[in-house]
Amino acid sequence: MILDGKTLSKKILEEIKVEVEKLDKKPHLAVILVGDDPASRIYVNNKKKTALNIGINSTIIELPKDTEESVLIEYIQRLNNDDDITGILVQMPLPKHINKDNVVCAIDPKKDVDCFTPENVGKLALGMKPYFYPVTPQGILIMLDYYNIPIEGQHVVVIGRSNIVGKPMVQMLLQRNATVTICHSHTKNLDDIIKTADIIISAVGKKVVRCKMVKYKSVLVDVGISRDTNGKLTGDLNFSDFNDINEILDFVEAFSPVPGGVGPMTIASLMLNTLCLEHTRILSRIAKSSFE
Ligand code: GUN
Repeated sequence: MILDGKTLSKKILEEIKVEVEKLDKKPHLAVILVGDDPASRIYVNNKKKTALNIGINSTIIELPKDTEESVLIEYIQRLNNDDDITGILVQMPLPKHINKDNVVCAIDPKKDVDCFTPENVGKLALGMKPYFYPVTPQGILIMLDYYNIPIEGQHVVVIGRSNIVGKPMVQMLLQRNATVTICHSHTKNLDDIIKTADIIISAVGKKVVRCKMVKYKSVLVDVGISRDTNGKLTGDLNFSDFNDINEILDFVEAFSPVPGGVGPMTIASLMLNTLCLEHTRILSRIAKSSFE
């Protein structure tokens, strides 16, 4: 089975659009982009385009790469105090001279659609309800639920320990009663650990998972994005030992492709967060209706 995040995200975005139309006051997402990283610019423009398509207001604040940390924090404080702004996203990575921890701490947790602030991350770790769940892990879980892939009691191996994906993914999986192993660049015998996984979630940006080596009928979720030698977008899953797609589909239970898997789900998940503070209520309703 292919975990088709592209189609599922479209369904979710359509549902959000219907909800947004009913609102007198539209959500308004502010995105701050510091510097001129081309990949970040593409991501930010995609977020804006998606928001506009579904009736969510969005403003991109572009700041030069030599912007001082204090100036960036002033922008954030202005957005915190602006009642029209419902969500704030500071695109990462930031230029090296800026301390990202100070920036993250400046965001109002009630507008922290990324779930980056200590309050929201702390709540997540304590099993309490954060104002928002982290977008990529949330998008992955929505996708696994949609395809009826069980999580409770499953051994999930998460590869990558970033604050954006790996660490919050582990917290959300624990909340769902999975047995979780987290691997990273210092992990010994990664292949041996991978072999024991029911579900593998890889967020590295390199071809680290040789799919012929995984357990038969495991579920593979690819969060990695890199470019191959021909400049084509590719993920962490290495399928080169297989002859064709049918052989892959016979061997694994399911996998998410790159592009068209986790990427679109992350944007849909961000839009869900931007829709409303009571995101979980709306999420479950949207989930139910779009999961029918
Ligand atoms: N850079 C790469 N992914 C993300 C994300 O999910 N949120 C933010 N703010 N920056 C990113």
